[in-house]
Amino acid sequence: MSSLLIANIGSLVTNDPGIGEGPLGLVRDAALVVEDGRVVWAGPGSRTPEGAARERFDAAGRAVIPGFVDSHAHLVFAGDRAPEFEARMSGRPYTAGGIRTTVAATRQATDGELDENVRRLVAEALRSGTTTIECKSGYGLTVEDEARSLRVAAGHTPEVTYLGAHVVPPEYAADPDAYVDLARGAMLDACAPHAKWIDVFCDRGAFDGDQTRAILTAGKARGLVPRVHAGQLGPGPGVAIAVELDAASADHVTHLSDADVDALASGGTVATLLPGAEFSTRSRYPDARRLIDAGATVALAADCNPGSSYTTSIPFCVALAVRDMNMTPAEAVWAATMGGARALRRADIGHLGPGARADAVLLDAPSYVHLSYRPGVPLVARVWKDGVPAA
Ligand code: NIG
Ligand code: FE
Repeated sequence: MSSLLIANIGSLVTNDPGIGEGPLGLVRDAALVVEDGRVVWAGPGSRTPEGAARERFDAAGRAVIPGFVDSHAHLVFAGDRAPEFEARMSGRPYTAGGIRTTVAATRQATDGELDENVRRLVAEALRSGTTTIECKSGYGLTVEDEARSLRVAAGHTPEVTYLGAHVVPPEYAADPDAYVDLARGAMLDACAPHAKWIDVFCDRGAFDGDQTRAILTAGKARGLVPRVHAGQLGPGPGVAIAVELDAASADHVTHLSDADVDALASGGTVATLLPGAEFSTRSRYPDARRLIDAGATVALAADCNPGSSYTTSIPFCVALAVRDMNMTPAEAVWAATMGGARALRRADIGHLGPGARADAVLLDAPSYVHLSYRPGVPLVARVWKDGVPAA
């Protein structure tokens, strides 16, 4: 049995209010005991239980937080869209149409190239503290290219999402409903065995409410759990459909009606905010306060993709959420850890209470507040995944 003691932690975020102060379950001068990859004890260092043959790691007064749970990423792609970004920064607006540029490059790529891209980005995310990352298809948009995208993703994470309904590919431009039939028919048949989740981009220039409902309902019948891209580019029916179908999460949620906010606050669907996308498309941020104050569960994710948000950095998103979305530092850290776990319906990650996976991040800082107080600074000093040093 492997056993690790992380001692001398200046402040420990457990996300377990039974262990420490406030919603973050914060413990000062703390220690954490890990056995066989799981947390067995967390609390004040002065009360550390005796244990034999433990490896001891001295945190030297620095902060430890749960590993980030990034519940929204599009990593299976080829190429980049730097020219599109540059044009946008000179005033051209973001549209869903740019996705087709990446679809063309992805179809040309070998399996090995796609696998290497995912590996590179998962490793990059890990270095900034992300220990769980969801990964969507959505740049293949043929039966074979979507299925291979999911096979590639599944080699790197268990949180795999079928997003055949990202946009209508060019060869179906004249008959979008035929593409919807494919996405909920033969494409779903080929993809369902490789995925856990099904997502639809329900927005202007992508899929409307009827199409979204039809595709998600077919996915549910195949055992996939829905998540929805909703309200990124404009108001629409995405959030209502997400809540109606008990989706795990409605993502972006920048454009929300009062009824949408009420539905998110009363249903089991998490509101996942992706401020990297608003940053990189120079558009207005979602109203996190309105959602939190209404009682919705909020997650923060990076939305890494080559078009609207080419970042894997959750610390960057935490800083944006605090500075530009009026979230408190504690709310932002909770949303990027427990919030992400809720959005993936996982009880074993996102916290450091007994029984949790020992996915933890050591910060080169005395407190989690420094993640937003010191933006852009690489504060992640060490990452443990299942109790083993991973970065
Ligand atoms: O989440 N909104 C849809 N999908 C991505 C953008 C994809 C792209 O532009 O390539 C997003 O922002
Ligand atoms: Fe996305």
